[in-house]
Parts: sequence; C-alpha cells; structure tokens
Amino acid sequence: MKNIFLGITGASGAVYAIRLLEELNKRDFNVSLTVTDDGLININLELSASYSSSEDFVNDFGFTNVTLYHYRDFAAPVSSGSNTADLCLVAPASMGCVGRIASGISSNLVERCADVVLKENKKLLLLVREAPYNSIHLRNMLYLSEIGVTIMPASPAFYYNPSNIDDMINFIVGKIFDIMGIEHNLFKRWT
Ligand SMILES: Cc1cc2nc3c(=O)[nH]c(=O)nc-3n(C[C@H](O)[C@H](O)[C@H](O)COP(=O)(O)O)c2cc1C
Repeated sequence: MKNIFLGITGASGAVYAIRLLEELNKRDFNVSLTVTDDGLININLELSASYSSSEDFVNDFGFTNVTLYHYRDFAAPVSSGSNTADLCLVAPASMGCVGRIASGISSNLVERCADVVLKENKKLLLLVREAPYNSIHLRNMLYLSEIGVTIMPASPAFYYNPSNIDDMINFIVGKIFDIMGIEHNLFKRWT
C-alpha cells in the first residue's frame, strides 16, 4: 500500500489526523490530503490555531509526502477510478460525512474518494466520532460495515494505562495502522 487518501472533516479529533500525517510522513507513503471547511474550523479550534487555509496548516507542519487538494476539487487524481487510492481514510469522520457516503452522495472530494474506493473494491476506513450516536448514525455505520467499510470509533482504551493524551492519540493511530498492516510501536500490546 503506497497511495493513501486522507480526508479531514469537521468531527472532533483533528489531533488524530495530525498524528496520522506525522506517522505516515516517517514512512514510505504518498498521501493525498483534503480538509473540509468544517475540518479546518475544528483544526483551528482544537489546536488553538488560526490557519486561514488548509495550505497554511500543511505548510506549518511541513509534511513532505503530502499533496493537498481543495475539498471541492473533483478533478483531483483520487477522484477518478483510473487513479484510485489504495486506501481512503476519513479521520475524523463527521456523522454528516458518514451519512453522505452511505447514501452515495459525493458532495465533496472526501465523499467522492470514498465512493470511488468502494466502486473499485479498495479499502475505506472511517474514524468516526459523535456522542451519543442516534439511530441514523448507527444505521449508516451498520450499512457501511456490511458493505466492507471499517468503522473505527475514536475511542481510546484504558487497559494499557495511558499516561497522557499523546498515548491516547497513539493508541487510535496504532489501531488504524494495525488494520493497514503497518508496523508500529505506537502502543504497548496486551501480553
Ligand atoms: C467544535 C465542533 C465539534 C464538532 N464535533 C463533531 C463530532 O464530533 N461529530 C460530528 O459528526 N460532527 C461534529 N461537529 C459538526 C460538524 O462539523 C458538522 O456536522 C459539519 O457540517 C461537518 O461537515 P463536513 O463533514 O463537511 O466536515 C462539530 C462541530 C464543531 C464546531
């Protein structure tokens, strides 16, 4: 797996996306990235930042393996079945985004990329976050799970005694890497 698409939407949990980007940047992956408007709002809120655009955000972190696309850019390569990403990650995934993917509504590049990986039988992983879930959320996630989508809740575990927020973020990113088959030392495994 080399070509990964990451969509950042407006659910809480921008830190997960940032850790994912940092860890992918240490490895041999090409990352196509897009950030929705609400995703950028949450990045700013949760990082106490004031990025005026997703370009500012990417430049500030200095990710070297990331190609950024505007979230309305349906001409981006990953928008086509002839250039499908090996994996489409949406992290964090808003319930609105989950619902639109479940309904086949490709209203932005995140949803279009998800739609394309599904039609091309590639992998889609959604790092979902809401609390509590209503029946619409649960039905959408069940439907997506039934068609092969991995629904990963942004719910860190506590059995490994995390000592800080960083540990909790690493646990979730490590679980995503487990599914992707990427070796890591992001958390200590249960023995
Ligand atoms: C501070 C903040 C936190 C939010 N957290 C969540 C969340 O955890 N889950 C969710 O589904 N929506 C959350 N939202 C609402 C989404 O941002 C909103 O539904 C938005 O339309 C999602 O759009 P997008 O999928 O295009 O990014 C939050 C909004 C704000 C401002």
